[in-house]
Amino acid sequence: MRFLVTAGPTREPIDPVRFLSNRSSGKMGYAIAGAALEAGHEVVLISGPVHLDRPHTAKLIPVSTSDEMFEAVNRQIRDCDVFVMCAAVADYKPANVSATKIKKRSDNFSLQLVPTRDILASHSKTDRSYLVVGFAAETNDLEENAKKKLAEKNLDIVVANDVSGRDSAMESDENEVIILFREGATKKISRAPKKIIARELVNIFANAREKRLTKKMP
Ligand code: CTP
Repeated sequence: MRFLVTAGPTREPIDPVRFLSNRSSGKMGYAIAGAALEAGHEVVLISGPVHLDRPHTAKLIPVSTSDEMFEAVNRQIRDCDVFVMCAAVADYKPANVSATKIKKRSDNFSLQLVPTRDILASHSKTDRSYLVVGFAAETNDLEENAKKKLAEKNLDIVVANDVSGRDSAMESDENEVIILFREGATKKISRAPKKIIARELVNIFANAREKRLTKKMP
């Protein structure tokens, strides 16, 4: 199968030296790309700026902004079987990017932000041949919020992880996830290294994609 995986944060520039971003390390997405390769799948990895070694045989497409990630996904999605949107895409970007460094002043400063495009929602329309997997990063009401994303973004699967407190999934080598399926089932994977969780996730995604294909057969 062909996996299209996104990973890492995006950077939304404010001026030539500043940007808005988040704490995503890219570890979960890279682990999924690595596990998919290990399982014999073909992998295209679209990655925001991270400090990780590239999975050797994956096609790596480096991007920086949410707009670049949006365009890269657009170009790659057509032939994929499983689309895994693991990246932590910024929800807002500065309304204007200053061409020169913004100078310090003594009064307050506010930045006008505009919403970015939702990459996942824009590729989860009903007439699609690929499986769509989203991630939900939550600090509270994990399952309830993830369930909302599953429905609102029309996903096949959502992987919910807690990004609050000491055991936050962000930046850590470990994670603990709840997987919610479109059909209503849920499955929990207890705390384990992201590489181990990734193997299980890849199996689950490949099986779900297989099932989808079988269902469509006459
Ligand atoms: N996502 C995306 N494009 C965006 C924002 C998010 O494709 N502009 C995707 C993420 O990659 C993830 C899913 O949407 O697979 C959910 O992201 P998350 O940050 O958990 O939630 P949001 O949709 O941004 O909503 P909120 O911040 O209100 O929780």
